[in-house]
Amino acid sequence: MAIVQVLKNAQEVARAAAAFIAQRINANPKLVLGLATGSTPQGTYGELARLHRSGNVSFAAVTTFNLDEYLGLGGDHPQSYRFFMNENLFNKVDIDPAKTHVPSGVARDPAAECANYEQAISAAGGVDLWLLGIGQNGHVAFNEPGSAADSRTRVVDLTEDTIAANSDGRFFSRAEDVPRKALTAGIATIREARSLLLLATGEKKAAALHHALDQPPTLDCPASLLQAHRDLTIICDEAAASQLRAR
Ligand code: F6R
Repeated sequence: MAIVQVLKNAQEVARAAAAFIAQRINANPKLVLGLATGSTPQGTYGELARLHRSGNVSFAAVTTFNLDEYLGLGGDHPQSYRFFMNENLFNKVDIDPAKTHVPSGVARDPAAECANYEQAISAAGGVDLWLLGIGQNGHVAFNEPGSAADSRTRVVDLTEDTIAANSDGRFFSRAEDVPRKALTAGIATIREARSLLLLATGEKKAAALHHALDQPPTLDCPASLLQAHRDLTIICDEAAASQLRAR
């Protein structure tokens, strides 16, 4: 059963999500934390950095695994997800860089990189809590509509919708610059996390969130495949919740 918390705006979502994560770390300092990139979690990372500065949370023993990375971008490319994570969170807290994992976009053998990523997650004991966003087309990580429920970390093609959403000037300003492929954790990889925390903010996410939570699970909306997870929390703002069935 999913727990849905609706807050006024994105700032409140960021504060609540950061408090949720910090509380999990404080309960288990060796937490294995799954992370996402994109606009949605940026505020949450800012809040986590603030909580760290004020002495309210330490990442010293935390291990992290990110969802995805663009194929072809190295960690020093400003649009790579490794770069994003360093800038938004890792460089601002006391995490051991060796305990942070983002699939490598420049691995010589991307398929082997994906298999190794799954093995690294298993070797860490699995993910305790995975922070997630949702795409306007219902994607989670780069699991685009049609992704199999039993999918694992693999190389995928980005859809035109996702390329358009990511070239609106927030990250890339021209669609031609967005890589066409990515390495992504699969739906099964994500579902195996012991807890999931999905964030959604803004009206652009309202239809996807409605589809993900109020309709029967379907491959057309990858996020809907997470519905049956036994520990799923959604924190969203009023705009993203505007099409949700009353609960
Ligand atoms: C990125 C990821 C994606 C984003 C989604 C929403 O690691 O997993 O699924 O969560 O594309 O992106 P934003 O937050 O930019 O709207």
